[in-house]
Amino acid sequence: MNIQALINDKVSLALEAAGAPAGSPAAVRQSAKAQFGDYQANGVMGVAKKLGANPREFAQKVIDQLDLGDIAEKVEIAGPGFINIFLNKTWLAERAEAALTDARLGVATQEKQNIVVDYSAPNVAKEMHVGHLRSTIIGDAVVRTLEFLGHNVIRANHIGDWGTQFGMLIANLERVQQESGEISMELADLEAFYRESKKLYDEDEAFAERARNYVVKLQSGDQYCADMWKKLVDVTMEQNQYNYDRLNVSLTRDNVMGESMYNDMLAGIVADLKAKGLAVEDDGAQVVFLDEFKNKDGEPMGVIIQKRDGGFLYTTTDIACAKYRYEHFNANRVLYFIDSRQHQHLMQAWTIVRKAGYIPDDVSLEHHAFGMMLGKDGRPFKTRSGGTVRLADLLDEAESRAKVLIEEKNPELDAAEKTKIASTVAMAAVKYADLSKHRTTDYVFDWENMLAFEGNTAPYMQYAYTRVISVFKRAGLNESELTHPVVINGEKEQVLLSKLLQFEEAVETVAREGHPHVMCSYLFELAGNFSSFYEACPILNADEPVKHSRLKLALLTAKTIKQGLDLLGIDTLERM
Ligand code: ARG
Repeated sequence: MNIQALINDKVSLALEAAGAPAGSPAAVRQSAKAQFGDYQANGVMGVAKKLGANPREFAQKVIDQLDLGDIAEKVEIAGPGFINIFLNKTWLAERAEAALTDARLGVATQEKQNIVVDYSAPNVAKEMHVGHLRSTIIGDAVVRTLEFLGHNVIRANHIGDWGTQFGMLIANLERVQQESGEISMELADLEAFYRESKKLYDEDEAFAERARNYVVKLQSGDQYCADMWKKLVDVTMEQNQYNYDRLNVSLTRDNVMGESMYNDMLAGIVADLKAKGLAVEDDGAQVVFLDEFKNKDGEPMGVIIQKRDGGFLYTTTDIACAKYRYEHFNANRVLYFIDSRQHQHLMQAWTIVRKAGYIPDDVSLEHHAFGMMLGKDGRPFKTRSGGTVRLADLLDEAESRAKVLIEEKNPELDAAEKTKIASTVAMAAVKYADLSKHRTTDYVFDWENMLAFEGNTAPYMQYAYTRVISVFKRAGLNESELTHPVVINGEKEQVLLSKLLQFEEAVETVAREGHPHVMCSYLFELAGNFSSFYEACPILNADEPVKHSRLKLALLTAKTIKQGLDLLGIDTLERM
């Protein structure tokens, strides 16, 4: 049950009954402090001003009309006209019992939608680098959250598997095969293979001639070139899969829907845009002029969809791709996790999509942009020699750093357990560091920070989980033995429980806005609320009915942290 939404609906009804126009915003929010209750309606004041009424008087009118049933025990006017709502303790306790016995922790499923999520999207014959890391981790957390809410999620890995570079790559692959017969070893370092191909292309005219020839053949469906192309895709995706598996990212080979998939649609799209009068010929190319975007002279910007030589562009592909996702998957929403530098590109492609009428207005195309990953010096994250950081190397380093930490913290554990803990903590640290930041800002990659056991970090959250579990273990009771009901006696218990029941609000926000940091902040606050509760309310030494009640709160905390981290793609440990 989403309590915030529920109260918001009730306050909206009361607003209307008090004379506000239909649809006036109740703006019910979680209260920032316990003294303001559990929720606060902030919209009343603004509505009163619009009506020319005295805000406090109007707030009283709204309260007179407000029917919260048994949900709230107290409603009061605060400050210039806020309404503070204090939830009823018995009602809260009942919700806790319901959440505890429900595998979904009381979180309702939503009306099922078809949602396509475009994320990860590395390029063929290129090493996956840290730029793709953000897209992969953030996208995967949102995918898990949407699925948890009951949606039909289509993972679309829009890999860069097309373009003229494949001519030189095929020509070089052929050379390698002729020389050694064995390709997997040579391609182990994809970056090097790519660089070598480029060098041969630039320096060897015969090679370049062959490469250009292969581009043409590949585009016209030649079998030999298609086979060679597929080898390149396979080797690349095998390597990426290794990264995905390590990171516990839910992508597989089946989710690959690369650029090449849309090739057959492109000529038709250009013809259609011409027929609709949207595309015009300009200097031999096919161009769509958009009033919505201006070039530097203030004139409508021309977006090329087909070059003079007949080649299509990244934009043409994204037009086709959006159309396909709507038509083929009957998508209600399409979410793109792509870095913010591609924002204009997407907006142009989608403006054309809308103008051409390829997608109805109620289908949403959403760019969930993210900033760059920076080094500690505030410059783009690079290796010491200035190259791009390979994702695999980064993950290796995370593991070896975590190993040192665990060695210090838990010297008593056996080697296998240390390794297991270190790798779980390492992958979690890399992911959580990214997920916990507001994604639209650039983010500074900092080892010490992400591996710290203090603050809003993965090790802190994982440790918080094991601590709650250990309280429970020490009590020596299992869930079915907790026969006494949850009873709230003090503020710390109320604050903890109210926070526990806000889990659904966090889940829904992530699903709606694509901002996993909302879940991280929620879990971090929850862990803090649990610590305060644990300090103020003894569990193990408490008498029977109270002890059971508090253990239930602890158990619900553990379950919520585990479920929340799981939605972020982060594993928990029973001990660390
Ligand atoms: N492969 C592209 C890159 O590495 C990202 C593709 C994102 N998805 C899309 N539909 N354009 O920049």
